[in-house]
Amino acid sequence: MAAEKSTFSEQPVRPKYLHEDEELSQQCKDLIATLPTESGWINVQLHQYNGFWFAKRHLQGILNCQNHFQAQDSDILLVTTPKSGTTWLKALAFAILNRHNHYHSHPLLTTNPHDLVPYLDMNLYYQKAMPDLSLLPSPRLFATHLPYLLLPESVNQSGCKIVYLCRNPKDLFVSLWHFANKIRSETQGSLSIEDSFDKFCRGVIGFGPFWEHVLGYYKESLERPDQIMFLRFEELKDEPVKILKMLAKFIGSGFSEDEENGKVVENILKLCSFESLSNLEVNKSGRTQFGVVNSSFFRNGEVGDWKNFLTLDMIKRLDDITQEKLGKYGLKF
Ligand code: A3P
Repeated sequence: MAAEKSTFSEQPVRPKYLHEDEELSQQCKDLIATLPTESGWINVQLHQYNGFWFAKRHLQGILNCQNHFQAQDSDILLVTTPKSGTTWLKALAFAILNRHNHYHSHPLLTTNPHDLVPYLDMNLYYQKAMPDLSLLPSPRLFATHLPYLLLPESVNQSGCKIVYLCRNPKDLFVSLWHFANKIRSETQGSLSIEDSFDKFCRGVIGFGPFWEHVLGYYKESLERPDQIMFLRFEELKDEPVKILKMLAKFIGSGFSEDEENGKVVENILKLCSFESLSNLEVNKSGRTQFGVVNSSFFRNGEVGDWKNFLTLDMIKRLDDITQEKLGKYGLKF
């Protein structure tokens, strides 16, 4: 198992996310045996649990996390559906919280954001049922793709802060389709855009359906705006300074007047920009601790790229679903 050690430089022989059945607990195997199954995008199969779709190993991570994660009041949880801008949000939140510690030689210059902000379900509780979190600095910064419904109970019982980032589903789909084709194994071959689109519209994506995922957090953010902040990729692109200030304040690390005058906000945005991160050597080579090639998290980071990939029929189908599922809640993309 030496090739599986999770250090930054090592290239696992077979990425962790493609390990389908290994080391599943009996509880997880018993659960999977009862669940509806569909072919996946990256993993061979996805299983539907409580209305959402997961790969086998992700289900194991979710069960471990639900069984054992104890949230603390000071924790910060970054939540997204895959391809909503998780990498960017991780970088920004990390840079906000660590701006006093790492003025020179910033960790983001040498480490992929995914290795600085671990996923609960896809790193920590994916590798171990009860990981040792005692050495993590406070406030602890975690990420997850878990739907609201499946968050560990302690998250809602604590005063922990949740930052939710979503993205226009048309851009999200295009991003996901590219990503899946980049990291599928050679033997899997590539996915056609038509088949992938049909799966997306039927909600069959890891941690999806997209709409139910967004809605779960959107509704809660209206009920509890002090605990849940709801953000969009597009507004972060549009008004980065304003959103970064709001984000910093929300996670208890607002910028002082001196910092604002000293261009700290702009410097963080520059450090975490697509251009800066995607051109770093670390992000052009190597893999994350969970085995995904670092460069696959950076494509072009634009709004509206869907226009280059979707047919008029596809646009109509997706817009109709979004309107039907989210329109009545006033959520538009
Ligand atoms: P595209 O495929 O549309 O380019 P995630 O981080 O959730 O996996 O999402 C990946 C998407 O975010 C990709 O979108 C990627 O290019 C974009 N992205 C990554 N880093 C970014 C950054 N610093 N700024 C803006 N977009 C970024």
